[in-house]
Amino acid sequence: MEIKIAPSVLAADFLHLEAELKRTEDAGAEWLHCDVMDGIYVPNMSFGFGIIEQMHTSTKLPLDVHMMTAKPQNYIEELKKAGAYSVTFHTDVMDEEGTIETLKKIRSLGMRAAISVKPKQPAEEAFKYAEYCDMILVMTVEPGFGGQKFMADMLPKIKAIREYLDKNHPECEIQVDGGIGRATIALCAEAGANNFVIGTASYRAPDMKAALDEYKALANAARK
Ligand code: DX5
Ligand code: ZN
Repeated sequence: MEIKIAPSVLAADFLHLEAELKRTEDAGAEWLHCDVMDGIYVPNMSFGFGIIEQMHTSTKLPLDVHMMTAKPQNYIEELKKAGAYSVTFHTDVMDEEGTIETLKKIRSLGMRAAISVKPKQPAEEAFKYAEYCDMILVMTVEPGFGGQKFMADMLPKIKAIREYLDKNHPECEIQVDGGIGRATIALCAEAGANNFVIGTASYRAPDMKAALDEYKALANAARK
């Protein structure tokens, strides 16, 4: 499965967003990870559709929108209009039926659909929805803030989900998000992740292209 790096634009310099997007493209990123936070689901606020739409007009990178909001189901059409390529939401904000309906809606609008499991949620949470998902996001920190410390105890969960997917939905990707960088990417790749959200360690690296090249090499080596 292809290794993808999705720099989290939350860590970019918002005063120079256009230049930051260019820098991200030039560094060879596959996707751009966009963290939407509403101050209710998580104790932090970030940006919304207006910014996503503007980013869409100025970059060719597929926009990977991570909804950390209380009611993601209300904004699926809005996200489509804003240019989202992939939409991820958390399963603890609605019941099972609502989650499946929302995943189907995302796909019906031609976007990729994903759910996220938080550190306290078990691998089984992902099994329930895998058939409706193009990707499972395993949080490797508590959602809400960039720059947190990677939780190594999430590795067995990544492994369990990859094993389940290999048997049942082999094309479904596993993304990891939180504290990913030089010291942690190989561990996640070895456990079965192929898609890496990297905020701080992308935008704060002295040379973003050199950093992303190194992360990809580490991930590829660990998956062999
Ligand atoms: C955390 C966000 C992450 C964050 C990652 O709630 O979902 O996407 O931006 O940032 P780093 O890579 O700095 O941990
Ligand atoms: Zn995120």
